[in-house]
Amino acid sequence: MEEVENYITTNQDRFISELIEFLKIPSVSSNDHYLEDSVKAAFFVKEQLLKAGADISEVRETAKIPIVYAEKIVDINLPTVLIYGHYDVQPAEPLHLWHNPPFEPIIKDNKIYARGACDDKGQMFMHIKSLEFLTQTNQFPCNLKFLFEGEEEIGSPSLEKYLVDHKEELKADIVLVSDTALINNDTPSLIYGLKGIIYFDIELTGAKKELHSGIHGGTVENPLHVLCNMVSKLHDENKQITIPGFYADILEPSDLEKEMMNQIPFDLEEFKSLVGVKEITGEAGYSTLERISFRPTLDVNGIWGGHNGQGAKTVIASKAFAKISMRLVNGQSIEKVISSFESYFRSLAPETIDVQMNVLASCESALTPIDSVAYKAAEKAMFHTFGKKPLPVRMGGSIPVISLFEKVLGINSVLMGFGLDSDNIHGPNEHYGIWNFFKGIETIPFFYKYFVELSLK
Ligand code: BES
Ligand code: MN
Ligand code: MN
Repeated sequence: MEEVENYITTNQDRFISELIEFLKIPSVSSNDHYLEDSVKAAFFVKEQLLKAGADISEVRETAKIPIVYAEKIVDINLPTVLIYGHYDVQPAEPLHLWHNPPFEPIIKDNKIYARGACDDKGQMFMHIKSLEFLTQTNQFPCNLKFLFEGEEEIGSPSLEKYLVDHKEELKADIVLVSDTALINNDTPSLIYGLKGIIYFDIELTGAKKELHSGIHGGTVENPLHVLCNMVSKLHDENKQITIPGFYADILEPSDLEKEMMNQIPFDLEEFKSLVGVKEITGEAGYSTLERISFRPTLDVNGIWGGHNGQGAKTVIASKAFAKISMRLVNGQSIEKVISSFESYFRSLAPETIDVQMNVLASCESALTPIDSVAYKAAEKAMFHTFGKKPLPVRMGGSIPVISLFEKVLGINSVLMGFGLDSDNIHGPNEHYGIWNFFKGIETIPFFYKYFVELSLK
């Protein structure tokens, strides 16, 4: 295993240029326009896995965007690690905010800039390069299975069925995922908790047609006013969410979890400058770290309607739109929150306004054990390559498949990511540190080694 550093140094230029080829494919899952590119990305991943030494590597059809499945089975008596990642990316818009086009990767200040550089192409690619290293040096501590999907950023709609249909094939002792962040490059972390999410598409309709705001103004409900009014009622003055019963089922963090959270180095000024605000805010009675780690949230992701073009247009729009999402924590049930939000939100609208609500994506929150052999193996691997023990962290992001692996296959996950919160994932100028990319490739083989050592003990 110790040769991995050398192997990276010898092959670093090729690793980067292969990643750049991957990043050039605009596999944006939320927009059907890019469907062909997603398929292209799937075949790229499949080929890369074969070249890296997988015995089997296949592109598998789903209802929409394919899944890539690969394996390297060395000995059925050895433990098996299932690696999960996603090759789809978020939309890159607004394009004018990028210093360099999102699908024409460039390297600047030892970082690769491109949509998906960190989330998750750069990170899933590390696993393929670690596989290549193990193949080239002919040392496989365990069996490896790879599941790479192209629909994570739209909520992994095909995965539940895929897991159910491929239960036998996907049998493994642990799932390993690199799709999260370190605290910083000197402070490694392992994510043991992710939030769940419910994402709503909302459409309000007032009058059947657009009206002249002089002729009809003041005589009918303006759906844009109504929508703003409804949205303004979703939080109270303490910034608590007002949906009835919203907080009722939350399982509060244990004292140990709070203690672990307090180990996380957190500099409020640094945080403020990173996000670009003068003051932080949030639910009363909680610190910023508590809000991020333990508390559910609700956000308007977009709101629009009426006249948005140049100049003035005197109009009362017929429709108003919003995208509203909620992040859920341990204990909250998706079904319950969907139904309570739906009825509460509808109750805020006057009778003359028609309200359409549609759930675009949803997933359960996830907590993974931190006293398991797999967690300890990840801890040891990171200690080996960072020289520091990683801190356990609960994060605000969501990865839909994590709770599904547990629910459908009964397999826990280890979230060993190498990104940084400052990588601008989902935003313009997303990037991934080359140091982080190589550190991941270096650490992954040690995870396999220690996982097997600790499992067989
Ligand atoms: N990799 C992220 C999730 C993430 C990022 C977790 C950083 C922890 C730290 C993932 O690709 C993501 O963006 N998920 C979506 C899920 C949604 C679209 C269903 C999210 O969290 O918004
Ligand atoms: Mn991701
Ligand atoms: Mn993402």
